[in-house]
Amino acid sequence: MELTPEEQEMAEGKYGKAAQKAMEILVTLGEIYGAKRLIDISSVQVAGVSYANLNEPGLEWLADMAKDGKVRVLTTLNPSGMDMEEWRKLAISEEFAKNQTRVVEAFGKMGIITTCSCTPYLYGNLPHYGQHIAWSESSAVCYANSVLGARTNREGGPSALGAALVGKTPEYGFHLDENRQPKVKVEVKTEVRGTFQFGALGKVLGDRLGKNISYITGIPEASVEELKSFCASYATYGGVALFHMEGITPDRVTTIPSETTEVSEDDLKGAINDLNEDTEIDFISLGCPHASLAELEYIAKKLENKKVNPNKEIWITTARPTKQIADRMGFTKMIEDTGAKVAADTCCVVAPIKGRFHGLASDSAKMCYYGSGRNKFSVKLMSVDECIEEALK
Ligand code: F3S
Repeated sequence: MELTPEEQEMAEGKYGKAAQKAMEILVTLGEIYGAKRLIDISSVQVAGVSYANLNEPGLEWLADMAKDGKVRVLTTLNPSGMDMEEWRKLAISEEFAKNQTRVVEAFGKMGIITTCSCTPYLYGNLPHYGQHIAWSESSAVCYANSVLGARTNREGGPSALGAALVGKTPEYGFHLDENRQPKVKVEVKTEVRGTFQFGALGKVLGDRLGKNISYITGIPEASVEELKSFCASYATYGGVALFHMEGITPDRVTTIPSETTEVSEDDLKGAINDLNEDTEIDFISLGCPHASLAELEYIAKKLENKKVNPNKEIWITTARPTKQIADRMGFTKMIEDTGAKVAADTCCVVAPIKGRFHGLASDSAKMCYYGSGRNKFSVKLMSVDECIEEALK
């Protein structure tokens, strides 16, 4: 890889140890993927924040990077293992809270904005069309590439941090025009409505197409909430970080693929059935990806003056800035007066809750995937309204 004089000096350690380590990561990655150079980026989103995933070796590595590392571009974090302020209400242990706080402090020391969320685009880490970025969280990467038209590969935690410390990323993969063209055309022949149905559509396409980039027709409109749910599911089941949705994705498509596949009402129902185990629900998760303000308002109004079944728990996960607005508008109180919990900074996959619950209901196909695979819960995919009814009954 060809380096500029400044990059060369960073690689030699003239800008400190953390920058040197960061250059080592970026150059190694660039050489593996055949990048010719590093390119400037406008923002970073770093995953690998939960202490449940990092453990002591990960935390030590971060603390070492924080000794002299400083980020050069706007950088935010993925969800941590707990609500950073109200972790007690989620029954997180003192020990875990102490360690999680050390992790977030290490990131903060490097100049990272310590909002922990998988929807950075909802609160100010918002790239525009064509901008190069280095993000980690799969649903956010898919949203950035496919809805915003920004350009990012799916970074691992260390490569995202490396990119933040250098302000650059190797130019390969989705940073290049030639790798962003669709391979398969998808004709959606059924109406798709609501976050849970968009999640089901993501599962159908992910299961069927894998990493092939699709050109999707037949979706006349979709809300931000539906698109974030679709991105989360598609990236989870297919491992793909980019799709083109006609009328929504801003990228220019040079050739519409001739290979075509159709999605029928039965396909959608099949995906929903696949994620509906015969189980008693004791945990309900909404806000995957993190709830928008509109979602919090909707849930608050649905729950207002009702009571959650005391044998069940419902978490609505969101970003701290979104919660702060919801606090001011009274939505948080309307929700929490019922016994439901608004949990900022965290998510039900990276919080240390494995084994705490038995049956999970969610409107998110991604949450069902990880709730089952990682946390060993039985799962049910439902609409938001059905999830709320389940919490109340
Ligand atoms: Fe976000 Fe966690 Fe879902 S990171 S996309 S809330 S699994």
